[in-house]
Amino acid sequence: MCGIVGIVSRREFPASLLLERLKRLEYRGYDSYGYYDGRDVVKAVGPIQTDGRGLTRAGISHTRWATHGGVTVENAHPHASCDGSVTVVHNGIIENFEDLKKGLVRRGHRFTSQTDSEVISHFFEEGLRTKPMRAVVTDFMGAAEGTFAVLLMLRGSDQVYALKRDSPLVLGVAPGMSIVASDIYAFSDLTRRAAFFENDEYAVVRADGFRFFDRRGRPVRRPLRTFPAQQESSVRGTFKHFMMKEILEEPAAVDRLLFSLDHDQKPAFDRLVRLVRRSKKIIFASCGTSYHASLLGAYFLHQVGVENQTLIASEFRHFAKVDGDTLIVALSQSGETMDVIDALKYARECGGRVASLVNVPYSTIQRMSDLSLNLLAGPEVCVASTKAFVSQSAFMLRLAREFGFKVDLSNLSLRIRGLLRRREDIRRIAEPVAAAPDLYVIGRGLTYPVAREIALKIKEISYIHAEGMMGGELKHGTIALIEDGTPVISIINNSDADIVSNTKEVEARGARIIPITNNPVLCRRPGTIAVRTGNDGKFGILAAVAGQLIAYYVADKLGRPIDKPRNLAKSVTVK
Ligand code: F6R
Repeated sequence: MCGIVGIVSRREFPASLLLERLKRLEYRGYDSYGYYDGRDVVKAVGPIQTDGRGLTRAGISHTRWATHGGVTVENAHPHASCDGSVTVVHNGIIENFEDLKKGLVRRGHRFTSQTDSEVISHFFEEGLRTKPMRAVVTDFMGAAEGTFAVLLMLRGSDQVYALKRDSPLVLGVAPGMSIVASDIYAFSDLTRRAAFFENDEYAVVRADGFRFFDRRGRPVRRPLRTFPAQQESSVRGTFKHFMMKEILEEPAAVDRLLFSLDHDQKPAFDRLVRLVRRSKKIIFASCGTSYHASLLGAYFLHQVGVENQTLIASEFRHFAKVDGDTLIVALSQSGETMDVIDALKYARECGGRVASLVNVPYSTIQRMSDLSLNLLAGPEVCVASTKAFVSQSAFMLRLAREFGFKVDLSNLSLRIRGLLRRREDIRRIAEPVAAAPDLYVIGRGLTYPVAREIALKIKEISYIHAEGMMGGELKHGTIALIEDGTPVISIINNSDADIVSNTKEVEARGARIIPITNNPVLCRRPGTIAVRTGNDGKFGILAAVAGQLIAYYVADKLGRPIDKPRNLAKSVTVK
């Protein structure tokens, strides 16, 4: 995944403005970046520095997450054509770039990077020698296989061409300027008015406005829409890391969502409840952390007799049987995860109905859905998802309540706040874990998804090998790995006898147990992370918050980068 931003303004602006906007998308990619201001291409490896000089009326920029070609200045975007007449930034993957490149090389084009994206600028340079832009766009959309959001500028020009297929692209209109970007967070502090691209469309963005066209160059109408306000800022402020800032925002995010489900989003929520009641089969589809939230939700719903299944989206088509009576519910923070999009495409082909819960309004998944609700968690800048998980889980609990799950949600945010206030105690318990090469997190039923989520967070940001598993599975092999001092985080709900017995099994083999529990007797023991709630649903969410704090403190102790862990860009979609 990468982030792109283009600005076209009535007045001259400094290149630093382009980079400031790009910085807001840094969570989409952060190994290198660059911009083009109509005259010069400027590129660098490393985090975005917002010190661009030079005044311009139009510019394009890119923050990269490398897929094709290593992290080098040459491979950073923008990519200019041989004679510099065409410059592009690209998010997506041109799957047939090698074929296209061969043809262009035969016609004398020289490539300077190993990226698939560079082929785009050469393709346009070649085409524009004999044809108008409109015809070359049509040719490109016909010739390119794969996904793309492309911003293209001609040398010396002050307009931007924006092309889209399957990679996110949105055009925001702020006072005096238009901003085309990968998502609304690039400009959500400046405007709430935006036009959303459909696939195989392009826009010509000029200082006096913009026009949309289909792939054949026929004008299409794309009205401006108002998207919901984004409450939290994407600025780290005094926090050492975005991750801690975002964890501390969890109580507010939960309150906002629950309020909205009873007010402005009530009609949509009621419709979802009706769909769940009416559908013969309900399948949740999601990835990573969102999958764990849906698994927790699947548990809540099973407790009240709502048959459902949840699948990891990348395996969806191998395990799901979908027909006209099936409701597929996608959970996705970004709303852009390609595996989820593919699962939904497959579900549609089979005649299923699609609902979704996303954090990014008008994202691809939202627009593919028959019914979609907004998570309203605000921007998640840290790559590791935290407040989105808590809000997704709260949503699932609210849904289960409609079907009879007993829970008082009015004090959920209060309980989270209470736990967060005790974070220094959790730090003391967590820090010794930093010395371990491996650790295990065990749960059962309600706490199994939580165990998986905690292990994922620990792996993702501290790089310690962690396995989150069902306590009952330990004895079927994994227990052989428990040695003297191996940390085992055990999530014990009330006095769940089974997990207590699993905990004793590993303790007998020398494991160092870190209990996360609401059991009053265990809570009194030193080294225990005490969670204050008697309710199953709330315990699941609070235990996960405790796990997020453990992951954070272990990673901080190890001096890991935390907000931008290696080998991971937010939502593993395209580059
Ligand atoms: C982990 C994390 C990922 C995402 C996953 C799905 O902290 O952020 O596991 O949860 O890539 O992303 P979304 O929810 O955007 O579909």
